Amino acid sequence: MNEYAPQGTGAPALGDGTRAVRAGLPEAVKNEPPLPGPVFAAHFHLPGDVEGPYAYGRDTNPTWTLLERAIGELEAPGEDVHTIVFASGMAAVSAVLLSQAHTGDTVVLPDDGYQALPLLREQLEAYGIHVRTAPTGDDAQLAALDGARLLWIETPSNPGLDVCDVRRLVDAAHAGRTLVAVDNTLATPLGQRPLELGADFSVASGTKGLTGHGDVLLGYVVCRDPELAARVRRWRKIVGAIPGPMEAWLAHRSLATIQLRAQRQWANALAVAEALTHWTDVSGLRYPGLPTDRSHKTAARQMRGFGSVVSFTLPDRAHAERFMAALRLVEDATSFGGVRSTAERRGRWGGDAVPEGFIRFSAGAEDTEDLVADVLRALDHAGARG
Ligand SMILES: Cc1ncc(COP(=O)(O)O)c(C=O)c1O
Repeated sequence: MNEYAPQGTGAPALGDGTRAVRAGLPEAVKNEPPLPGPVFAAHFHLPGDVEGPYAYGRDTNPTWTLLERAIGELEAPGEDVHTIVFASGMAAVSAVLLSQAHTGDTVVLPDDGYQALPLLREQLEAYGIHVRTAPTGDDAQLAALDGARLLWIETPSNPGLDVCDVRRLVDAAHAGRTLVAVDNTLATPLGQRPLELGADFSVASGTKGLTGHGDVLLGYVVCRDPELAARVRRWRKIVGAIPGPMEAWLAHRSLATIQLRAQRQWANALAVAEALTHWTDVSGLRYPGLPTDRSHKTAARQMRGFGSVVSFTLPDRAHAERFMAALRLVEDATSFGGVRSTAERRGRWGGDAVPEGFIRFSAGAEDTEDLVADVLRALDHAGARG
């Protein structure tokens, strides 16, 4: 049980901002820093028997321990959970899928999830694991669950921003003894708590909104069950996809501001989405926080905030490229969730089933009026020369 989330103790539950600034900090010790610096160590002194928490740097590190505690406090306040950090989001995603599914098992994936999932699908199939896919929207994965070992949910999905009803899928999956993992990357633990919705695993890329500065690659897995956690930890040990101490420390330092960043970024995303609703060149606008979005009802039930990503489609590739080139405050870059707004014409990668003019836009922490004005000016420019 962590000290900053006194649920069940009779004390009032703390707010997200309070929890964030204290998450994972050790007990105060005179003359010690509040957040100890990164511990750079490949090995630790170990005379005699193998005892104590730290022996070899691929297995454990004190900087990870604090970060893992912090992420656990945000993903599942007041609960005793197991958190395992990884070198990247994909390391965490692969660790869950490859440690829980075995030859002959069936795994259900979304067919509209992050674009590296099809690569992972090929790998699972090469190991004799059967893969079924279905879209995120309309809870379509329900129809593919029969006899599956694991259901993988990505909600909101990247880049289409569809949302599924996590609790409904979890109930159906658990009725058939199917494990459920939720990719929580877009929402961040402040926006959604998959374990509270019944999932067995919350998995995410910490590269995005969790750390928010675009300078760290990180991933994590959180779960309640010690046996499931042990398998994921074993996978990390044998594959060695561990974060460096510096990255882990930077991530922990960044967590202190996650609530401040998220509040501004989510407000900016909503303001951009609202401004886009009035623009005739824009179609296919998606943002789960927009009351008119087809996912809004489900999102409002299970999310605590709707994230920083907005997606929409401009008439064609040239129009989208003119829009991207005209932006002044928004970086043309992949990734999302950072304090500096980014956007990209997603079709340039291939791999996602999106129109040529599809834009994935990630709102940063700029002043709202400046950001909206920049987007509208770029849209105007792109349309005028169309
Ligand atoms: C939803 C989702 N999951 C996982 C990943 C993988 O994360 P990473 O790039 O940190 O490996 C990404 C990356 O964009 C993502 O968008």
